[in-house]
Amino acid sequence: MDQSELKKVAAERAAEFVEDGMTLGLGTGSTVFFLVEAIARRVKAENLHIEAVATSSRTAKQASDLGITMKDINDVDHIDLCIDGADEIDKHYQGIKGGGAAHTLEKMVATTSRRNIWIVDESKLVDTLGKFPLPTEVIPFGCEQVFHRLDAEGLHPQFRLDDSGQRVTTHNKNFVIDLHMGKIDHPHLLKQFLDGQVGILEHGLFLDLVDTVVVGTQDGAKVLP
Ligand code: 5RP
Repeated sequence: MDQSELKKVAAERAAEFVEDGMTLGLGTGSTVFFLVEAIARRVKAENLHIEAVATSSRTAKQASDLGITMKDINDVDHIDLCIDGADEIDKHYQGIKGGGAAHTLEKMVATTSRRNIWIVDESKLVDTLGKFPLPTEVIPFGCEQVFHRLDAEGLHPQFRLDDSGQRVTTHNKNFVIDLHMGKIDHPHLLKQFLDGQVGILEHGLFLDLVDTVVVGTQDGAKVLP
């Protein structure tokens, strides 16, 4: 199976965790795409009554086109289960997210949720975080100052650019600065530093957040831990 098929394997297994009556959080990305399809199939086949909050307009559109009832996060009093992809997960189940620049909304939905499941293909499991550049979301006002501060800290910042060389903007019209660190030895210390930086709205270090990881492997889906 190629990477896309492994993502589908993980997504379809994770869709089995959805129960009638739940309010769901739906993540963003190519793995979540398969998840939304699988949940929509179950909703139709089993006449499930669920509602969902999305972490991006892409996911919201796909889910609502497939007949899933979508809610604004401000209109729900809780989220039972959030299922999302990830860019890297280490052996302590700490993760990097934000490859799709949706990490601020994803972290809001994840921290609101009673249970979090990540769905990944096996290539996302790593010993140490940081090979995948760590995304931050930075407000435009003073973003050059933030960039210089991150550079001075040795965090190897780069503005994320699109195919035409323009700065990528998020749902909130902010910029993404990726930190090309190669290796993150102390994720909690880095989180503390980034949380304290004026101008950084959010970053893609998701620590102590996930309850279950569903991995697509050549031997099928594995549910961890
Ligand atoms: C988007 C994310 C995604 O969950 C992450 O990038 C994984 O994406 P994919 O499932 O396409 O590999 O964090 O901001």
